[in-house]
Amino acid sequence: MSKLQAAITGIHAWVPADVLTNKDLEKMVETNDEWIVSRTGIKERHILKGEAMGTSHIGIQAVKGLLEKTNTRAEDVDMLICATVTGDMHFPDTANIIADALDIRNAFCYDLNAACSGFIFALVTASKFVESGTHKKVIVVGADKMSSIVDYTDRSTCILFGDGGGAVLLEPSTEGIGIMDSILKSDGSGQNYLYQKAGGSRYPPTAATVAAGDHFIYQNGQPVFKAAVSGMSDVVKKIMERNNLSADDIAWLAPHQANRRIIETVSSMADFPLEKVMINIHKYGNTTSGTIPLCLWEWESQLKKGDNVILTAFGGGFTWGSIWLKWAY
Ligand code: UT7
Repeated sequence: MSKLQAAITGIHAWVPADVLTNKDLEKMVETNDEWIVSRTGIKERHILKGEAMGTSHIGIQAVKGLLEKTNTRAEDVDMLICATVTGDMHFPDTANIIADALDIRNAFCYDLNAACSGFIFALVTASKFVESGTHKKVIVVGADKMSSIVDYTDRSTCILFGDGGGAVLLEPSTEGIGIMDSILKSDGSGQNYLYQKAGGSRYPPTAATVAAGDHFIYQNGQPVFKAAVSGMSDVVKKIMERNNLSADDIAWLAPHQANRRIIETVSSMADFPLEKVMINIHKYGNTTSGTIPLCLWEWESQLKKGDNVILTAFGGGFTWGSIWLKWAY
């Protein structure tokens, strides 16, 4: 029997309607459109507003659209993973909240946190269940409401992040398409460069942690920038080398969208012309677990069955990785 592989057979994504532009940010902190665009490539980001609206709302919209689009019945889904750093609550997992809202009752569901690499970590994890033959319809969500942990008085981080996400359906294929190879990496010595200090078990929430702003994202941008460039370019080159792929063989590179300069540097180090690189950071900013599904969703109509696609991400932890997949439809 031919080898079972996990193929993406559908994608849907969603962003909230409200938009926060660079001009809006100029009124909130000392910054300007020219600095933001030249240093990051970001022009606007979407923000989820409304009382009691958590990341699950983004996931629900994405999965609802995915089920409709792929004619998948909720009862046939047998696993759902949600990659996020901004789950609705510490527990239960946001994956369960999404499943409940959509009447997905026959699946086991959990969240996975690998910061900005969450979607690719979850995709590889999910693919193993499909490849083993135990699970046949697996949904992977990447979604974040970053506005819930951004300090809108800190100009070095508030310009970067936005809210949004997407979901893919993974199904078994014996056609030699789907997820072909992956490299995932973690290095905990990067933990002090990008984190949310309080709210967990080490510093539970108190009036003092709130007053100190310890529930917001902290980032020391320059070391993260350097590690992101070297980490992503290394695993993109490695996955191509060990599979004898040249840039000519690859239809698209879908990189995590943290900074346009990082994307351009990684692309050039791996010899990818920018015309083959998915870039939509100008519209959404950094949506953490949401960036790669938002890219695949926007490029869906340009993707063809059999196209070689490389995904790559880098995030807090540090975490990073690359996936080589053959598009399945
Ligand atoms: O997705 C997870 C992984 N995250 C990333 O990959 C992000 C990696 N880091 C970055 O993208 C960049 O480091 C940032 C975009 C965060 C910052 O860009 P940078 O070129 O590294 O700027 P910087 O932090 O070195 O700051 C340069 C100057 C500083 O002023 P001085 O000290 O030179 O006078 C900052 O205070 O720019 C200043 N600055 C700003 N000026 C206007 C910082 N933020 C702003 C701002 N507007 N919003």
